Amino acid sequence: MRVWAVANQKGGVGKTTTSIALAGLLADAGKRVVVVDLDPHGSMTSYFGHDPDSLEHSAFDLFQHQGSVPQGLPGQLLLPTSHPSIALLPSSTALATLERQSPGQSGLGLVIAKSLAQLWDDFDHAIIDSPPLLGVLMVNALAASQQLAIPVQTEFLAVKGLERMVSTLAMINRSRKQALPYTIVPTLFDRRTQASLSTLRTLRNAYPDHLWPAYIPVDTRLRDASRAGQTPSQFDDKSRGVLAYRALLKHLLSNELAAQVA
Ligand SMILES: Nc1ncnc2c1ncn2[C@@H]1O[C@H](COP(=O)(O)OP(=O)(O)O)[C@@H](O)[C@H]1O
Ligand SMILES: [Mg+2]
Repeated sequence: MRVWAVANQKGGVGKTTTSIALAGLLADAGKRVVVVDLDPHGSMTSYFGHDPDSLEHSAFDLFQHQGSVPQGLPGQLLLPTSHPSIALLPSSTALATLERQSPGQSGLGLVIAKSLAQLWDDFDHAIIDSPPLLGVLMVNALAASQQLAIPVQTEFLAVKGLERMVSTLAMINRSRKQALPYTIVPTLFDRRTQASLSTLRTLRNAYPDHLWPAYIPVDTRLRDASRAGQTPSQFDDKSRGVLAYRALLKHLLSNELAAQVA
């Protein structure tokens, strides 16, 4: 199984949309995908028609066993989605109690990695939608992953948030054997606005080695897909947003190949 996280400490930058778009395209290609909602807001869980405020069982259950994960539990928590090849490990509001806990003290940093290890043979790919705070949940997402996508909204204040995310990553990398490879994904790009153009330029100068050289455009079809509870490619396979996400997926998959060769 390949495990990717989608993270940024800023909200509203397209993390959930990116997670679901990539999962949808992988599933369309015949992969068995598990999506993990580690954001206590539960947007991904809601997207697929489940209510994070009323779910009795969720990813939270995995954290209730002092850092060990009972055999079989991750599989029992999975819920269906709009796509037959995508299973959801849902969030619930209870996860908020973990979000601010200091990861060092709790011993809970590897709960998601251990949980996914139990699902290794059942899925080809996992995609983790991460919370916007650096706490136990973010640490779990990054510790479980082999690759990270950082969506960055192409507007003026976004670069500051990105700096924070990159320094969080540097901190987390100190406790990993190998640095986590990451790709910056410009999102919500509107080529008519000065802000989008100049942010893209800033990103190109500041992160030449980590920037995906294209961008995800503003596309209302992505919003419509979320309203319909379908993955973007289920909703409209030909939309500009889906075309861009298809190119992004290709880029991320080729990163994996490059890493295997190295
Ligand atoms: N490329 C895009 N074009 C248009 N709307 C988008 C795009 N990406 C995300 N959105 C919308 O913007 C809002 C925030 O996106 P979301 O993926 O939930 O961000 P995050 O998970 O980072 O908070 C959602 O309403 C989503 O449908
Ligand atoms: Mg989100």
